Amino acid sequence: MSLSGNLFRTSVGRKFLMAVTGFILIGFVTGHLVGNLQVFGHPDQINGYAHFLHSLGGALWAVRLVLLAAVVIHVWAAVTLTLDSRKARGAEGYGVRRWIRASLASRYMRLSGLVVLAFIAYHLAHFTLGTVQTDNYKAQLAPYAMAADFHLLGFPVVEKGEAVADVYSMVFLGFANPWVSLFYLVAISLLTVHLLHGFESMFQTIGWKSATWAGWLRRVAVVFCLAYLAGNVAIPGLILSGAAKPAAGTTAAERLAAPASSDPR
Ligand code: HEM
Repeated sequence: MSLSGNLFRTSVGRKFLMAVTGFILIGFVTGHLVGNLQVFGHPDQINGYAHFLHSLGGALWAVRLVLLAAVVIHVWAAVTLTLDSRKARGAEGYGVRRWIRASLASRYMRLSGLVVLAFIAYHLAHFTLGTVQTDNYKAQLAPYAMAADFHLLGFPVVEKGEAVADVYSMVFLGFANPWVSLFYLVAISLLTVHLLHGFESMFQTIGWKSATWAGWLRRVAVVFCLAYLAGNVAIPGLILSGAAKPAAGTTAAERLAAPASSDPR
C-alpha cells in the first residue's frame, strides 16, 4: 500500500491525520484570536489588519482551502475511527462493557466537536457572509476611513484616508446582543475543552508524550488553553458588559448610543 493509502486506510494513519490537521487548526484559532484582540485597540488596528488580509486575494483563498481541507479530514478521520472502534467492540460481544476513561473523553470530543462545527457555521454566517444580524454586517456599515497609515511587521500595508470595511463596528455591534455573546461564550468554552484533550492526544499520536514529559505536557496544555479561553471570553464578555466601549466617532459608538429602537438585533 502507498504512503497516502496507509494514511487514509489504517487507523494509525487516520490518527496521524487527525493530529496533523488538529495542529493546523490550533495554529489558526490561536492566530485568529491574536488578530481579534486588536478590537481593543484603535479602530485602525483591526480594520487595517482585516483589509490587509482581504487584499491578499489568491493567497487568502489558498489558506481558506487548506483550513477547509483540514476540517473535512479531521471530522472524517474522527467519524471513521469511531465507527471502527464500535465495530471492534461489537465483535467482542454484548454484555462486555469496557468503561474506560478514554471512551468518556472521546464521547466528549465528539459532542464538543459537533457544537464547534455548528458554531463555525453560525460564525461564518455572522461575520463572513453577513446573513445573520444583517444590519451589523461589515458590508452594510458605512466604510471606515483609516486615521493613519497602517503598518504590519514594519511594512506600510494600508494608507491613511483609505476607506475600508468597518470590522471594528461589526464586532462591537454583534456582541452588544446578549444572545449572540452567550452563544459565543458557550461554544468557545466547549472548544477550549476540546483543544485541551486534543492537544495531549496530538502529542501522544506523534509519540512525544513519554512518561517523563506527560506532566509537563499537561501543564503546557492547561496554561495554553486557559490563556486561549481568557482571550476569547474577553471579547464578547467585555463588550456585552460595557467594560469595553467602542471609540468615539465610530459607527458602533453612534449606534450603541442611539435610542433602544435602533439597538442591534
Ligand atoms: C470571540 C471570538 C471571535 C471573534 C471576535 C471572531 C471574529 C471574526 C471576524 C471579525 C471574522 C471576519 C473577518 C473578516 O471577514 O474581515 C471572522 C472570521 C472567521 N472566524 Fe472568527 N472570531 C472568533 C472566534 C472564532 C473561532 C473560535 C473560530 C474557529 C473555531 C473562528 C473561525 C473563523 C473563520 C473560519 C473565519 C473565516 C475566515 C475567512 O474569511 O477566511 N472564529 N472571525
